[in-house]
Amino acid sequence: MLILKSSVSKLLFVAFILMIGCRAKDDFPGLEYAPNMYHSVPYEGLSQITDESSGKWLSNREDGKGEYFNSNPNNPHGMNLREPVDGTVKRNMSGYMPYRVHKDSVDLAARILKNPVEKSDEILSDGKQLYSVFCQACHGSQGKGDGKVGEVMLGVPAYNVGRVKDVPEGHIFHVITHGKGRMWPHGSQITIEERWKIVHYVQQLQQLD
Ligand code: HEC
Repeated sequence: MLILKSSVSKLLFVAFILMIGCRAKDDFPGLEYAPNMYHSVPYEGLSQITDESSGKWLSNREDGKGEYFNSNPNNPHGMNLREPVDGTVKRNMSGYMPYRVHKDSVDLAARILKNPVEKSDEILSDGKQLYSVFCQACHGSQGKGDGKVGEVMLGVPAYNVGRVKDVPEGHIFHVITHGKGRMWPHGSQITIEERWKIVHYVQQLQQLD
């Protein structure tokens, strides 16, 4: 009984030491087995290790610092990722992430996209205004495909007829962004939010008799 007790306490003691040994604190990442499996040899943008004493492993750096002293000596403050230049615009500046669905994947867009802009009278009137600038010349004020350009550019469909009457919001958004056939893409001219406003308005035109 006594023997069992002491071996159990030994075991607990070893477990305790192991737990203490592995605990990370501040800059100390805890005990690591084969650290060169965890630490990148190339400079990693988001993991900068500035502790010069780090790295007991062989080094292929000119300054002889260890492999996992991962901080770029050529940048100010040893930064790995330099700060963006002045005037850099955030990718999601407008509140939306860039639209990444491939231009050939209109069916996917139709299935997965939901309009993030809530419909209201104001949004509809913005949509109408944008539509009159970007779409009306071809599609006509009522979306019947009879705009001034539509008259000569044959094959501009009416929104309220046949298949186009039933295309969902994601499909419309995708076509505005990437174009279709002879309709050119508008993604570079109209922001994501504006495109969704236009979608609300086009959906209204789809309902016309
Ligand atoms: C230069 C003329 C032109 C402009 C400008 C234009 N379109 Fe089009 N649009 C077309 C033509 C042509 C088609 C038919 C494309 C085809 O099926 O080959 C079309 C098709 C469409 C379709 C139907 C897509 C489908 O699946 O058949 C929608 C929806 C649409 N346009 C919306 C818009 C919206 C919204 C705008 C404004 C942001 C716009 N278009 C601007 C010419 C234009």
